[in-house]
Amino acid sequence: MKKIIKNGTIVTAADTYIGDILIEDGIIKGIGLGLEAQDAELIDASGCYVFPGGIDPHTHLDMPFGGTVTADDFETGTIAAAYGGTTTVIDFCLTTKGEPLQKAVDVWHAKSQDKAVIDYSFHLMVSDLNDKVLEELPQVIENEGITSLKVFMAYKNTFQADDGTLYKTLQAAKREGALVMVHAENGDVIDYLVDQALAAGNTDPVYHALTRPPELEGEATGRAAYLTGLADSQLYVVHVTCAEAAWKIGEARKKGLRVYGETCPQYLVLDVEALKKPDFEGAKYVWSPPLREAWNQEVLWDSLWNGTLQTIGSDQCSFNFKGQKELGRGDFSKIPNGGPTIEDRFSVLYSEGVAKGHISLNKFVDIIATSSAKLFGLFPQKGTIALGSDADLVLFDPNVTRVLSAGTHHMNVDYSAFEGMEIRGEPVSVLSRGEFVIRDKRFVGAAGAGRYLHRKRFEAEAPAPSQPRVSGGVV
Ligand code: URP
Ligand code: ZN
Ligand code: ZN
Repeated sequence: MKKIIKNGTIVTAADTYIGDILIEDGIIKGIGLGLEAQDAELIDASGCYVFPGGIDPHTHLDMPFGGTVTADDFETGTIAAAYGGTTTVIDFCLTTKGEPLQKAVDVWHAKSQDKAVIDYSFHLMVSDLNDKVLEELPQVIENEGITSLKVFMAYKNTFQADDGTLYKTLQAAKREGALVMVHAENGDVIDYLVDQALAAGNTDPVYHALTRPPELEGEATGRAAYLTGLADSQLYVVHVTCAEAAWKIGEARKKGLRVYGETCPQYLVLDVEALKKPDFEGAKYVWSPPLREAWNQEVLWDSLWNGTLQTIGSDQCSFNFKGQKELGRGDFSKIPNGGPTIEDRFSVLYSEGVAKGHISLNKFVDIIATSSAKLFGLFPQKGTIALGSDADLVLFDPNVTRVLSAGTHHMNVDYSAFEGMEIRGEPVSVLSRGEFVIRDKRFVGAAGAGRYLHRKRFEAEAPAPSQPRVSGGVV
């Protein structure tokens, strides 16, 4: 069935114009004014922006962590993502030391394949790059199209890898055309500060933030950037929270290093004061790295605008307050780290970014979709509105005002990190490969309709949108 989206204001990372979009077999087949086609369903988008579907490069769905499992799985998480205007998620596949990588990838396929309602892919965690893993890695990259490798520099005694492993991963990524992602915090020093705080009887949620100061994020970010330069490799720093880390990325980029950075909606609009809420409510705002002093928000907005940071990830890692966050009553180090953000990432960036004048409309599209598509080997299949691209589209009403709340969100979790926040704009309808997933604000998709995406290898120079595309690849 063909569809024509009529009279919307089409927005890409480069252009804004009124036009029609013809969709056939899930692909954008025509863009222009006054498009017609026999038997096409006409969808009126006048008054709406038509954006490329959001790409969320950072999710943790159905993930065991902190003695429990995240509250959203690939079904509830991707439904919420779709409500929020996201049509692709890239989730972190956790590996276990001593086990084959493929076994971990198979587990993640089992978690996702009959559940995801939108397209998805995986990053692969690396914690121990011994000879066996080094031998297996190229096959996994080739066979699975997993072209991004995640190294944790924190979470001592669970996920943390040492600097030697990070360096070996950077070298392997250079050889294989993969992008190395880091959680950049100095896990050794944090571990020591946590022990000191608990020994002094400081057990409240706010000590989570006080034992993970910005210096330790800046230091780890700088260390990872130096190692990247040494290996002549490429690095993507996830969830940048503060000036110390953003400055290190800026410094590396000025030197010409292939170092990229992501922030998350929570760091743009919330601050460390939230962790001081009474009755243990501060636990709802426990992320690693933690929320920072509010002045860092301006640095992050500037960094997005000037290109020091390129993307926004949700870092969706939801835990219910009741029964999950509560595991850390009396010991902040036992509070599961993370929060529910997958649904609000897109609209918070639009409302706080575009409507409040921090970023332009085209920059918004770049940050929410295009840059991630380019960095993670999905462009131009995803991340733009162009002939031949997948018809992943968001019809977005910029004129509505609404209030974010756990009472109305679709994440499987009992609180909202943004409870009571008034925002401008709302995705009205969302299409994945030409099929409605959300229609007039109602879910009409299906579990299992999302496809696994094999991604291309990292390209230092992202292809220009005008390059011809042949069967999914850039030529
Ligand atoms: O607190 C966080 N960020 N939880 C998710 C895991 C991670 O470090 O990304
Ligand atoms: Zn992390
Ligand atoms: Zn994360």
